Amino acid sequence: MGYRVVVAGATGNVGREMLNILAERQFPADEVAALASRKSLGTEVSYGDKTLKTKDLDTFDFDGWDIALFAIGSDATKIYAPKAAKAGCVVIDNSSLYRYDHDVPLIVPEVNADAIAGYAKRNIIANPNCSTAQMVVALKPLHDRARIKRVVVSTYQSVSGAGKGGIDELWDQTKSIYNPTDDRAPKQFTKQIAFNVIPHIDKFLDDGQTKEEWKMVAETKKIVDPSIKVTATCVRVPVFVGHSEAINIEFEEFLDEDEARDILREAPGVMVVDKREDGGYVTPIECVGDFATFISRIRQDSTIDNGLNLWCVSDNLRKGAALNAVQIAELLGNRILKKG
Ligand SMILES: NC(=O)c1ccc[n+]([C@@H]2O[C@H](COP(=O)([O-])OP(=O)(O)OC[C@H]3O[C@@H](n4cnc5c(N)ncnc54)[C@H](OP(=O)(O)O)[C@@H]3O)[C@@H](O)[C@H]2O)c1
Repeated sequence: MGYRVVVAGATGNVGREMLNILAERQFPADEVAALASRKSLGTEVSYGDKTLKTKDLDTFDFDGWDIALFAIGSDATKIYAPKAAKAGCVVIDNSSLYRYDHDVPLIVPEVNADAIAGYAKRNIIANPNCSTAQMVVALKPLHDRARIKRVVVSTYQSVSGAGKGGIDELWDQTKSIYNPTDDRAPKQFTKQIAFNVIPHIDKFLDDGQTKEEWKMVAETKKIVDPSIKVTATCVRVPVFVGHSEAINIEFEEFLDEDEARDILREAPGVMVVDKREDGGYVTPIECVGDFATFISRIRQDSTIDNGLNLWCVSDNLRKGAALNAVQIAELLGNRILKKG
């Protein structure tokens, strides 16, 4: 006997990947319901070799459903997640709405799987921000060996992180550059994204950092260790899928670059590709459709006593969202909602 699983936001970037990954990983689902807004009623989405017709989330009855993977943004989540949770369906949410709630575990299974025990307080589990998810997978095994004091990270985030609209805007703007009569003013982003980079993701906070940058700080503390200091600069780049990060880490103890490479090679969810030669590193285009977080360019930072630099790339729609959510569902199935 398997699970009855809901995917809310099934017509979106993340929801479509959730359906792909549920099928790829052969998640033991007896039934899968694809939900979106009323305007998408009847829209066909793929689930393995099946096609599902999208239902209206607003009228959906969650009674009898085991797990709901949500990827619909915070506003809609605020309305529908409590409804699902109250009906006894465990919500695994991709929005930022519940991430900082003390009664909701924020989980990256390779890092803090045991936190899942706290799910029952609200019947909700949160998935982190895409940039945080891939970073903490790399940080955790290094922290366990040499205790991280401080992280300085710069991100290079793809437009798919801003939803379907982000992908369309990069595509249309790129075409319009070659056809000047076709004016494509920025809508989704604050400035032109085609052939440009924008040092601004999410809203500005009072201290000058952006909410996206703040999320990386707060979420790393909640998932890995509250003592780790993080400072981030988050940048949108004209890449369709795949977030990259240049990460500088200061440790309490010395950690040699070769040992760090060995540790990361053994770490769950990590693939090291680090040859000091032309092309001996991973770029975002190569990580699309993959499960792993790729680490390259591991090297000592000789400007401080115990420093390392590395380059971290992952498919933001997968490890940054859909894969992590399905991994949480697997964890929930293995440890808590056992069936069969
Ligand atoms: N993209 C990423 O890298 C990433 C990473 C981590 C977390 N997330 C989070 O995941 C969520 C979804 O992101 P996305 O990139 O998939 O966005 P998206 O491509 O814009 O898709 C949004 C989905 O939500 C549905 N939706 C929106 N409002 C709804 C409502 N009121 N009722 C029912 N369905 C509604 C849409 O349905 P319709 O098509 O019917 O409008 C669509 O299926 C967001 O919370 C985002 O912050 C995204």
